[in-house]
Amino acid sequence: MNFFLETLKVTVLLVYYLLESLVFLVVPGRKKNVSGEIVLITGAGSGIGRHLAVKFASLGATVVLWDINQEGLNCTVRLAKEKGAGRIHSYVCDCGKKQDIYRVADQVKKEVGDVSILINNAGIVIGKEFLDSPDSLLEKTMEVNTMAHFWTYKAFLPAMIAANHGHLVSIASCAGLCGAGRASDYCASKFAAVGFAESIDLEMRILRKTGVKTTIVCPYVINTGMFDGVKSKWPRLIPILDPEYVAERIISAVRQNQEILVVPRIAYVCPFLKSFLPVKATVLLLDYFGLLDFMSTFKGRPKKE
Ligand SMILES: NC(=O)c1ccc[n+]([C@@H]2O[C@H](COP(=O)([O-])OP(=O)(O)OC[C@H]3O[C@@H](n4cnc5c(N)ncnc54)[C@H](O)[C@@H]3O)[C@@H](O)[C@H]2O)c1
Repeated sequence: MNFFLETLKVTVLLVYYLLESLVFLVVPGRKKNVSGEIVLITGAGSGIGRHLAVKFASLGATVVLWDINQEGLNCTVRLAKEKGAGRIHSYVCDCGKKQDIYRVADQVKKEVGDVSILINNAGIVIGKEFLDSPDSLLEKTMEVNTMAHFWTYKAFLPAMIAANHGHLVSIASCAGLCGAGRASDYCASKFAAVGFAESIDLEMRILRKTGVKTTIVCPYVINTGMFDGVKSKWPRLIPILDPEYVAERIISAVRQNQEILVVPRIAYVCPFLKSFLPVKATVLLLDYFGLLDFMSTFKGRPKKE
């Protein structure tokens, strides 16, 4: 192709896409209908997963819930039914085990059908300094927070590609955009989750399967219990988030085919500044915002007796 023609075309499209995203900031795009979709949510027995399950069910979707915790699943099913959910299926599945994922995925395909919205939400955190973290827990973090995404995509993506219809949702974290002390394994697993989801999204575009959408979600700390003890240095500027609010933002992002969602908005600044500031300046700012050692007060969810 002619260099000048191609450069002109890219410049025009670039300006168009920038203007389009500015317009969507002011006037949000139309939300797609999710009734009739089969939505699978991992880690649906608590926190964000539970809120997403209840909300998707109330929008008329068929929801398929996975969790390692049967009690948590039962509670989510009950809450969703109280909100009028009709089609709801729950399965105990250990997302840290590939064979378990493939086994339960086959069961879902037989009993419910092809999943059209896959939400990889199950996650764990250790919250210790790297050298104090047992090898087994480091491996578990990678298996649940990252590798599970590989196996669920392997199980459910082929049907989405065949139909050129589907949505892949990765619940990552701000910890997948910037590193943090006492969270090295967690950050590594979330950076990997972001890189994986972003790459598969590009693969779908290369394959011209643009009916298969991706939403990567990067929230700051949410008040679900997972990060109990963590405090915000400037709560007005960077608040600890409410799970109901985050779930609502995720549903809106999915329904508007938004590719990346960072909550709160101010957190977009972090990877941007990091990309050009000297490291010392970035560290200074991280410390100023209370993000450098935000895990210092981490307790995590108390263990059951
Ligand atoms: N809470 C936060 O501050 C925060 C911030 C950013 C991102 N996130 C991410 O959001 C997601 C949901 O977190 P949450 O705050 O709702 O946590 P949560 O602990 O309330 O929920 C996580 C769920 O995952 C399930 N789970 C854990 N290991 C599993 C396994 N091996 N197989 C199947 N299920 C398993 C748990 O039983 C639990 O129901 C996680 O991926 C987390 O990393 C959380």
